[in-house]
Amino acid sequence: MLTGSIVVLSNRPDRDRALADAVGAVSECRLIGLDERWAEIDDVIGIIANVNLTEPEARRCLTLLLRRLQGRRMPFIHLVRNSTASTVREAQAFGATACLSSLLDSNTVVEALFRQIQPDSTVSELVVQRQIARTGTLINSMFKTAATGQIDMQEVEQGLDPVLNAVKEGGLTGWLEVVRAHDDVTFQHCLLVAGLTAGFARSLGLSSKDSHLMVRAALVHDVGKSRIPPEILNKPGRLDPDEFTVMRTHAPIGHEILLASGNCDPITLAVTRHHHELLDGSGYPDGLSSDAIADPVRLLTICDIYSALIERRPYKKPLPETEALRILHGMAGKLEDGLVAAFAKSISTDCRHPIAT
Ligand SMILES: [Fe+2]
Ligand SMILES: [Fe+2]
Repeated sequence: MLTGSIVVLSNRPDRDRALADAVGAVSECRLIGLDERWAEIDDVIGIIANVNLTEPEARRCLTLLLRRLQGRRMPFIHLVRNSTASTVREAQAFGATACLSSLLDSNTVVEALFRQIQPDSTVSELVVQRQIARTGTLINSMFKTAATGQIDMQEVEQGLDPVLNAVKEGGLTGWLEVVRAHDDVTFQHCLLVAGLTAGFARSLGLSSKDSHLMVRAALVHDVGKSRIPPEILNKPGRLDPDEFTVMRTHAPIGHEILLASGNCDPITLAVTRHHHELLDGSGYPDGLSSDAIADPVRLLTICDIYSALIERRPYKKPLPETEALRILHGMAGKLEDGLVAAFAKSISTDCRHPIAT
């Protein structure tokens, strides 16, 4: 993943907000005006300057930055309204590595910059990596606070758009590939379920509001695991019956954590408590069956089981996509057939490449 930040220097920062947002989807971004004194430049890995170099203030500001960089060369895109031989020459004299039209759309500028910074990765891949890192930080923080207390639902909110945008931008495959490379089992599971849920919601054509609801539920559904002893949670092998009894408590414990935290919607509460319930009544913790299990819960249960099947664990190989889907189809009576078929469709249409194992 990229570390460091991009400086977007502008003589009108208010007008370059969209450009800064497009950069911010890929890496840290600092949108800066011409009065900057450059006190902190250590982490700068690239520059986009949308300034007029004939203006003394713009020249002063850039000169100061370059002096502070002490000859450190880096990708530097200068945006110009009229590209002429002399404006290009002037920009190059300031160290610009490319001169582009300021009329180009933000994504084209961002692509040109990151092609120089990380030529081996596409912008989509970089966006996915960044969103996974952001959501992962949030999940780690959530599990840490939930272990002994409550969670901040406002903080969870910040994880919804990164998941939805990354799956939209890079497809489900990109999300699954990067997440499955992660070693922490719980981190991997929460992010996989969230990505699968986002992809499924997209494939079903759910509204933005419902998609956000579902991804919120996916991110927190296993928060009760934060209070399961690590020797059981991370056991490198099958749980014995006693351990499994303890593990099953994560669903009601998660529900209690959310109730105590407040500000939690009924769907997230239901999903957290009931995502291990099965239509034939053989699930836990309440042995619910058929109509007692709400649609959002049924949907998430499918993503949850599929995720567990394709996860990479120290003690088991991940199942290939086709095998995992075969197992889901074999759970007729426990899972809703129509939803399993819709899920399989969402996987096959969204995953542009088969999942490597
Ligand atoms: Fe669970
Ligand atoms: Fe789960």
